[in-house]
Amino acid sequence: MKKDFRVVGIDNFSTGTESNIDIAIKNASRYRKDLNFTFVKGDIRSYKDCEKVTRKIDVVFHQAALGSVQRSLEEPIEVNEVNVCGTMNMLKTSIDNNVKKFIFASSSSVYGDSEKLPKIEEMPLNPKSIYAATKVASEYYVRLFYRLYGLKTISLRYFNVFGKRQNPDSIYSAVIPIFLKNLSLNKKLSVFGDGEQGRDFTHIDNVVYANLLSMVSQNHKTYGNFYNVACGEIISLNEMIKFLEKKLNRKIDVFYKNKRKGDVDKSLASLKKIREDLGYKPVKKFYRGLVDLIKVLQLGNA
Ligand code: UD1
Repeated sequence: MKKDFRVVGIDNFSTGTESNIDIAIKNASRYRKDLNFTFVKGDIRSYKDCEKVTRKIDVVFHQAALGSVQRSLEEPIEVNEVNVCGTMNMLKTSIDNNVKKFIFASSSSVYGDSEKLPKIEEMPLNPKSIYAATKVASEYYVRLFYRLYGLKTISLRYFNVFGKRQNPDSIYSAVIPIFLKNLSLNKKLSVFGDGEQGRDFTHIDNVVYANLLSMVSQNHKTYGNFYNVACGEIISLNEMIKFLEKKLNRKIDVFYKNKRKGDVDKSLASLKKIREDLGYKPVKKFYRGLVDLIKVLQLGNA
């Protein structure tokens, strides 16, 4: 792949940290001395900020959002402003600045609970939380920007992403970073519900790969379309805990608490559509991704 890209990033660090950007720059500099990267501290709720970062840009990877189903129940106005209005700002400034392609980070949450598994892109959507509804609304805007204005868009429905440098310290953090942090401190794990809820946990390498495939694809079928990005395997929290016990060679104490409002029961992706249209297949399966993470965090002799 051509490597002389000019890259511009924007973040307001409402959930991430500036040090993560520094690490990414340091890592990338190992492969390229003259890194062409500019970072703008800004907010996608500002049209002006979005206009600035989409100037002279060919491809937008729109990843910014306020995540967490729980946060969306407590802060619905802010979540809507960032996820929906922010997406609208990115879309509008993209067409104003003649961006050629727009890749949108959607979410598996758009499906909610479905009777059938795996979840197929053409299933009726059934959002169970405000967060999920913001992703549904954004997906429709993203598709309309293709249909009405010709911006080549692709929505990628990420299934429970995990990987290095995910923040474990917020009350809205995802389950894997929370579990691993608590294990490193020898603390108990809290499970909401009976632990039988299942997720198609997806290592970040798969997500990066799907974004790169979307960027280079010239398949017209993908424009205005949406795709699952996942591993195609369902793992329950109880199974994950059992695996961690084996890997770390110790008993893990678990607190079972009430199931959370808005929580989806089982989530598993069909990968047929993304395989056929984009040539995607998972590059790192769940257990390998988890073992890699355990090693990075020096949690045990994984
Ligand atoms: C949902 C979406 C996901 C999206 C994410 C954004 C679904 C199926 N998934 O993730 O695609 O990226 O929102 O925020 O809709 N849990 C515990 N103990 C903890 C923390 C969490 O038991 O300490 C449980 C939760 O109740 C849930 C599961 O673990 O059942 C996963 O939770 P979490 O990591 O927060 O992600 P989802 O809400 O599934």
